[in-house]
Amino acid sequence: MLDSYAVIGNPISHSQSPLIHTTFSHQTDQAMQYEAILAQQNGFPAAVTAFRQQGGKGMNVTIPFKLEAYQLSTRLTERARLAQAVNTFRFDGNQILGDNTDGAGLVRDIESNLDVPIATKRVLLLGAGGAARGAILPLLEQKPSVLAIANRTIHKAHTLHQQFISYGHIVSGDFMDFSGEHFDIIINATSSSLHDALPELSPSNFTHQSLAYDMMYSNKPTRFLEFAKQQGVNHLADGIGMLVEQAAESFFLWRGIRPKTKDVIAMLQSKVST
Ligand code: ATR
Repeated sequence: MLDSYAVIGNPISHSQSPLIHTTFSHQTDQAMQYEAILAQQNGFPAAVTAFRQQGGKGMNVTIPFKLEAYQLSTRLTERARLAQAVNTFRFDGNQILGDNTDGAGLVRDIESNLDVPIATKRVLLLGAGGAARGAILPLLEQKPSVLAIANRTIHKAHTLHQQFISYGHIVSGDFMDFSGEHFDIIINATSSSLHDALPELSPSNFTHQSLAYDMMYSNKPTRFLEFAKQQGVNHLADGIGMLVEQAAESFFLWRGIRPKTKDVIAMLQSKVST
């Protein structure tokens, strides 16, 4: 029997994870299968239990279950504990190991694929929800000169600042608090792009040399990336690379092998743009 993995969420039909992991398994010669599971809003624990009972080895968890996955885990990696969210389960006997590979995927995409080292850079992280929280530790581990956390609702930015204060140099505020300051890397971790909206950013945050990175992706440039382009930013990236890199990190947790991601990213980019 093949080792069995799945992505679980609601909705799930749009998920690219089965395609990504099936491509990884062929590339690395792993005898495994990967499926998508739709769980009802109140049916997440039962669906996970059923998959484990059928012999499932691990899962990816997506919206809206990352917090429930965190609560269901019996062991957590440090990055999942600090993210307070789990996007990857590995079933080890009776234990459920919960990990969060989203932030590591973001960092790998920025550093390896986009060729922008984070060390000594000034980084602006927009948002203070689950997506931003998961990125903070992996970003700080690369030793930026400063990580500025900016959020529309300022107290949430201050709360994250306090929680991560011992891990690196952080400042926090609302968007206008950083008006007039330049940043090398500006990451949109708000959910604004989902609603085709734009955070009220200061145009002065961008320079021609900045990297503007949106964690979201769609078949056209997001409002955030369009805004960055209008400010003269040439280096723009959406979240497709992060999506593939977080998957590669999960694959590594399960199989101990790091798949190559470049061709998979290119494949998804052409799929999304058509
Ligand atoms: P996620 O898990 O995707 O991060 P979330 O926890 O609901 O989702 O957080 C959404 C984030 O996007 C928050 O930082 C939110 O700002 P508030 O805390 O002020 O609500 C941010 N956000 C959503 N839409 C936004 C918009 N149009 N402009 C600015 N920030 C926005």
